[in-house]
Amino acid sequence: MATLIIYYSLGGKTDLVAKTLAKHLNGDLVRIHDMKQRNGIKNKFLSSINAFRETKTTIVPANVDITDYDTIYFGTPTWMGNPTPAILTIIDRCNLRGKDAIVFATMDANRGDTNVKRLEEKVRMRGARVIESFTIATKGKAPEQLIKDTEAIIEMKDLKMYRR
Ligand SMILES: Cc1cc2nc3c(=O)[nH]c(=O)nc-3n(C[C@H](O)[C@H](O)[C@H](O)COP(=O)(O)O)c2cc1C
Repeated sequence: MATLIIYYSLGGKTDLVAKTLAKHLNGDLVRIHDMKQRNGIKNKFLSSINAFRETKTTIVPANVDITDYDTIYFGTPTWMGNPTPAILTIIDRCNLRGKDAIVFATMDANRGDTNVKRLEEKVRMRGARVIESFTIATKGKAPEQLIKDTEAIIEMKDLKMYRR
């Protein structure tokens, strides 16, 4: 049961969560980069609108080969209660038929639940079976706390059950 974690992170929080998952679950990691400038107040405002409208974006890598994996995690920050354009863009390019999916979202404090609901819908549309989902609040948390919170979720959700 090979595990792959595909994620997008702007500020590094989701990156830390994804790396903690990979370490404990023996998973491989693919970080998706958004070629659109997302930093700065104006760009963040526009990014919220892009997320709300589910606008696609230019990503690197443009595609991910998921052939060898049975369980695929998709992780993203929450932008205006929605998944980010980068993660939706890659999900739409993956054929997930026959795959198990676990989706997760980081957030400051709220609307991560609407984000993961939408992620679940999107991966199901691509053919996946959703086996788990979770959110992690990141606001004001030191990296050590974020690692601890992620480890707590691994235990609580028994995520090691799905690793290779
Ligand atoms: C454009 C934008 C919109 C956001 N919208 C929300 C939101 O609706 N709810 C929330 O709790 N956090 C929101 N946040 C905060 C991020 O989801 C949160 O800080 C996340 O953990 C950042 O992950 P990252 O460091 O991997 O980019 C938003 C951040 C940005 C940049």
